[in-house]
Amino acid sequence: MARGSQQAQQAMTPMNETTSERTMQMSAASSGTATSLPDRTAGTPATESLTIIDNRTGKQYDVPISQGTVRATDLRQIKASADDFGLMTYDPAFQNTAACRSRISYIDGDKGVLLYRGYPIEQLAEQSTFLETAYLILFGELPTAVELESWTRDITLHTMLHENIKKLMEGFQYDAHPMGVFLSTVGALSTTYPDAKRIQDEENRRLQILRLIAKVPSIAAYAYRHSIGRPYIYPDNSLSFTGNFLNMLFRMTEVQYRPHPILERALDVLFILHADHEQNCSTSVMRGIGSAHGDPYSSLAGAAAALYGPLHGGANEAVLHMLKEIGSVKNIPDFITRVKKGEGRLMGFGHRVYKSYDPRARIIKQTADLVFSVTGRNPFLDIALELERIALEDEYFVSRKLYPNVDFYSGLIYQAMGFKVDMFPVLFAIPRTAGWLAQWDEMLRDPDQKIARPRQIYVGEARRDYVPREKRR
Ligand code: ACO
Repeated sequence: MARGSQQAQQAMTPMNETTSERTMQMSAASSGTATSLPDRTAGTPATESLTIIDNRTGKQYDVPISQGTVRATDLRQIKASADDFGLMTYDPAFQNTAACRSRISYIDGDKGVLLYRGYPIEQLAEQSTFLETAYLILFGELPTAVELESWTRDITLHTMLHENIKKLMEGFQYDAHPMGVFLSTVGALSTTYPDAKRIQDEENRRLQILRLIAKVPSIAAYAYRHSIGRPYIYPDNSLSFTGNFLNMLFRMTEVQYRPHPILERALDVLFILHADHEQNCSTSVMRGIGSAHGDPYSSLAGAAAALYGPLHGGANEAVLHMLKEIGSVKNIPDFITRVKKGEGRLMGFGHRVYKSYDPRARIIKQTADLVFSVTGRNPFLDIALELERIALEDEYFVSRKLYPNVDFYSGLIYQAMGFKVDMFPVLFAIPRTAGWLAQWDEMLRDPDQKIARPRQIYVGEARRDYVPREKRR
């Protein structure tokens, strides 16, 4: 993929820095590394085209191919008659439709590759931190030491929540699901920051992005403390992003909370792995709501609501419920038989894009060993390992290319670290906030984008006249 100055100019500039300074730095940096990706991302010659013969009319059309795609609107010229609307594509669940061009993350589903802005997820998980990765995802390049320091300071300055938001959260039922509390509170922040509506103002967008990344851990921690009836803990700005989050979750009476360094790092790695994942369900919602030009808090509340579902980010919670239900290794064959009969799914397995091992699941498995060396082994681990062993050999899963995804092992780590199972989707939403916001910002900058508005194939009744109530049968 060519990573030239155009990319540098399209990425956001961080706070406290001029665009020209940033562009110069990025242009210089981008001349160094090159990542080889398939033609789809590198572009194809303008001469490539698709010839279509409409057998209804015998007419022939040449449709240009660019970057391995044809434009759906180019098909509209194909009409059966003069008053025909023109040909459309039917693609429920967007299985073969690119809705945008993006420079943020890249997945090769067959090879199990995930890159953020060109950097392999394995390298970021080993060498980066979540805040640095969030910067990379948002602004397009790894920060210099000075930029990282300034970014970290800016985030730290925005971790507090308005006291009214605390009161709002206190109004939830004591057993409210933390993800419901989280997404409602994020939405409510739009009333605290009405200036967030000015989405065309680039500086203002940056401020809201900073606020959101800084405040989501505080909201998540308050949702958790509320659910266990403990007082809220204010942020401790002397700790790291993840260390402070652990402080707000778990601090009791100690004067200063000190997170265990292995657990702090493990959570940071999990946050890196969850930070972005191209056009998944919740990101598409973020872009979809954002395309109507609402404020980012409302869009992000919608994205979090999409993530909550058990087929998406709620799967980590569903995996733990599944492991509990299976109960013991000896019950696994029965469980697998039921899944193969269609009586339920093996949660944490399968993915729309990955048709080989999810690279994030591989890193999470390694991280789990580290965490268990501190917390002790999660008793469900044996069931998970045996499920994976059987599924990777079983014809049903092999033929459908079903492998463990990011959610299969993450819950085991979260549980070992002391999180309640219903907190798992919230732990996903915190880092994904960076990805959602980067995708939202990219969408607003993209001149190709308009309000998201799919077409439909109407299959309902033809026009008919209203029947008065007394005449209905
Ligand atoms: N267990 C059993 N069978 C499965 C599973 C599973 N986890 N996933 C897919 N299949 C089967 C389907 O029944 C279908 O079989 P069929 O062809 O005989 O009808 C085939 O595999 C294809 O499945 P689809 O549902 O068409 O695949 P799709 O791409 O639409 O779904 C999804 C992907 C939603 C992730 C699916 O694999 C699933 O439900 N997995 C379990 C939930 C989960 O772990 N979600 C987290 C995904 S990662 C994330 O969002 C963060």
